[in-house]
Amino acid sequence: MPILFCEKTNVFHLFNDRVSYIIRLAAGKYPLHVYWGKRVRAIRDDVLSRLTSYTDETFSLHELPLDVLPQECPTFGTGDLRPGMLHIRHADGTHALDLQVVSHRILTEKPPLSGLPSARGEQSQTLLLTLRDAYSGISVELAYTIYDDIDIIARSAKIINNGTSPIVLQEAMSACVDFEQADFSLLTLSGAWTRERGEFVRLLVPGHQGVSSERGASGHQTSPFMALLAPNTTEASGDVYAFALCYSGSFTADVSVDSFGMARAQIGINPFNFSWTLDAGSAFQTPEAYLCYSADGLDGMSRQFHALVHRRITTGKFASSRRPILVNNWEATYFDFNEEKLLSLARCAKDTGIELFVLDDGWFGERNDDTTSLGDWFVNRQKLPDGLAGFGAKLRALGLQFGLWFEPEMVSPISCLMEQHPDWCLHIPGRENVTSRSQCVLDMGLSAVQEYLFERMSGLIREAKLAYIKWDMNRSITNARSMALPPHRQGEVWHRYILGVYALLERLLNAFPQLLIESCASGGGRYDAGMLYYSPQVWASDNTDAVDRLKIQYGNSFGFPMKTMGSHVSVCPNHQTGRTAPLETRALTAMCGSFGYEMDLTQLSDAEKKQIKAQIELFKHQWQLHQLGEYHRLTDAQNDRWFTAWQVVSEDKSVALVQLVLLAPRANAPVLSVRLRGLQEDAVYEDDGGTRYTGAALMKAGLALPPMRGDYSSIQIEFQRLL
Ligand code: GLA
Repeated sequence: MPILFCEKTNVFHLFNDRVSYIIRLAAGKYPLHVYWGKRVRAIRDDVLSRLTSYTDETFSLHELPLDVLPQECPTFGTGDLRPGMLHIRHADGTHALDLQVVSHRILTEKPPLSGLPSARGEQSQTLLLTLRDAYSGISVELAYTIYDDIDIIARSAKIINNGTSPIVLQEAMSACVDFEQADFSLLTLSGAWTRERGEFVRLLVPGHQGVSSERGASGHQTSPFMALLAPNTTEASGDVYAFALCYSGSFTADVSVDSFGMARAQIGINPFNFSWTLDAGSAFQTPEAYLCYSADGLDGMSRQFHALVHRRITTGKFASSRRPILVNNWEATYFDFNEEKLLSLARCAKDTGIELFVLDDGWFGERNDDTTSLGDWFVNRQKLPDGLAGFGAKLRALGLQFGLWFEPEMVSPISCLMEQHPDWCLHIPGRENVTSRSQCVLDMGLSAVQEYLFERMSGLIREAKLAYIKWDMNRSITNARSMALPPHRQGEVWHRYILGVYALLERLLNAFPQLLIESCASGGGRYDAGMLYYSPQVWASDNTDAVDRLKIQYGNSFGFPMKTMGSHVSVCPNHQTGRTAPLETRALTAMCGSFGYEMDLTQLSDAEKKQIKAQIELFKHQWQLHQLGEYHRLTDAQNDRWFTAWQVVSEDKSVALVQLVLLAPRANAPVLSVRLRGLQEDAVYEDDGGTRYTGAALMKAGLALPPMRGDYSSIQIEFQRLL
C-alpha cells in the first residue's frame, strides 16, 4: 500500500521502494510538509523531529507563526507572509483564506482531470485531501498520486466554490513544496526560436527566481520545468528535486527564498493575465504538476521523467510502436511546389525506404507565402488538381502514407475565414491588432471555432486518408479579448484558449485513434507534457543543423524522452546556419529522435541515396534501442568543445549504443574516451569490432575511442552483452 495514514500521529506517508513523501496534519487540520526524499522505512520521530516543537496540543494557528512552517497549501490570511499557492478575491473584496483539512480519501484509481491532460494512473494510489475555509465555504481538493514504478508524484488542486456568491481566483498554483533550507542550485531551461532549451544553473538567493511564460504558449524562451540541485550534484549523483507541469499555456515555475533561508517552490498557471470567476457551486481544476526526486543526480531525474512521459503520458497506438520514417517537403520546396514536384520527391523517398510523406505549409487557400489563407483549410487545386484525396491516392499507390500540415489555431487577416468571422479572432476592438508572421490568433475557447476546425480537419483526414498531421502554432498571443466573454471574465481567455486546443485535440483523436499527431510551434515553442499527451512527438526545433541539434536535443533530454523529439536529416549547407556536416553525422543525430528527412532527395547523388537507404535500414534495426532504450548524457553537449557523446541502453541492459560527434578535430590529440552508464557491472560486453570489456570497466575506466578526424565526423559503437 503506497499511501498510509496513521490516525495517532495524523501523518500521511506516500511511498514506493525508493521515495517517501510525508504530510502531517498539525492540530488535526493544517497540512504541513514534513519530508520528501529517499524512502524512509517507518514514520519515525527523527523524520518528524523538525516539527516536534509544534505538538497538536500546543499548536494553535493564531499563536504560532505559520510563516516559518513548511506547508502543503499555503494561503494568504493565515499569518504566512510568503507567496501563497492560492489567491482568491471574495465577494466582499477581501482575500484571506484559512484552509483546514476536513476529510481525506485514498483512491486506487487515479481520476482524470476534467478538460486537461494528465498522467494515467496504472500502478498508483492517489490521496485526496479536502480542505475547507469555514468563513467562505470554499473548499480545495489537493490530489497526490504516487506510482510504484516511477519516482514521481503527480499533484493538482481543485477549487470549489461552495459559498453563495461568486469569487475570483487570482492565482491557483498546481503544487507547492517548502524546503527548510535553500542550499540549492536552480536548473532551468531557456532559449529562443532555433536555440531551444539551453541549460542554466544558478545558486538560490533570497527573493524570487524561476522562469515563466506570458505568451499563451509554454514557449521557446522557457520550459515549464525547474530542478533544485543539492550542492555537488552531478549527472550521476546528488539529490535533485524537480518540477514539471502538464500544461501548454502561460506558466510560472518559481522558487522564493525567505528571510529564514527557507525555499518555497511552486509551479502552475501564470497569474499574469489570469483571473477566473468561480460562480457559486462551480469548480476550477489546476493542471497537473510532476514532482520528481532523484538520489542519482540529473541522469536519475531524467530517467524518471522519461519513464513518466513514455509510460503514463503518451497514449495511443504510437506510444510504444515505431513511428513511420517520414520525409517532409518544407525545406525541400518551401511554398514553391506543384503535384509533379511533390511526387518526384515522394518516388525518391520511397526508393530509400521512407514510409510517410508529409506535405507541409502551402497546400490550401491561396497560400504561396506566409501572408495569407490560414483558416481556409480548402485545398489549392492549382497546386493539387486532384485535391488531397487524389494526391493521397497517388502517394498510397507508391506505397507511402500521407501526412499533412495544419496551423489550426490561426487565421490570416487576408483569408475568407477572417472576412466571414472577424469576431472569431482574438483582438481588442478599437486597438490595432498585433500580427506576427502576418497572422492573428483564433479564439480557441469558442465552441463555434472548435466546431469549424473539427469539421474541416476531420473531413480532410477522412477524405485524404491521412495517417499523420503536423499541428503547428507559429506565434505568441498578445492583445487577447474574447468577444464571447464579459469584461470581468477577460482574464479567463488565455486558459480557455488552451482548454479549447486540448478539447479539439481530444475530439480528433477520439474520432481518429490511429492518427499520429506531431505538434510544433515554430519548432519547440510548445514542448511540454500537455502537448505530449496528444502528440507523441514534437518538432523539436526549426533549426535542423545537426551540430546545433546536439545541444537542443541534450537540453530537451532533461525532461523528455528522445522518441518525443521530431528530428530530420536536412541538406548542407544547412538552411539556418550555413554549416556543413557529414551526412552520416546528420543521420546519427536525427536517429536519436523521431527520425525523418527534410531535404530535396531528388537532388542527391546516387552515392548519397545509397547512404540514406543504409541509414534507414539501420534505423529500422535499431529503433527500439533509440526510442525505447534508457538514454544517458555522457558529456555536457551545451558546453562541449571537443566532442559530444551520448548513449542508449536496452531495458534489459543487453545492448548499448554509444554515439559521438567530433566538434573540433585536434592534431596530436590525447586519447578520446568516455565513461559509459547503465550497464551491468559484472557482465561482459563485446563491441562491433569484437573487443570485450566488463560493464564495470566501460563505466569506471571508460571506453577509449579510435582516433577521429574531420569536422563533425561521428562514430556509433554497438555493444552486445555476452551470456
Ligand atoms: C513553422 C514550422 C516549420 C514549417 C513552417 C511552415 O515555422 O516550424 O517546420 O512547418 O512553419 O510555415
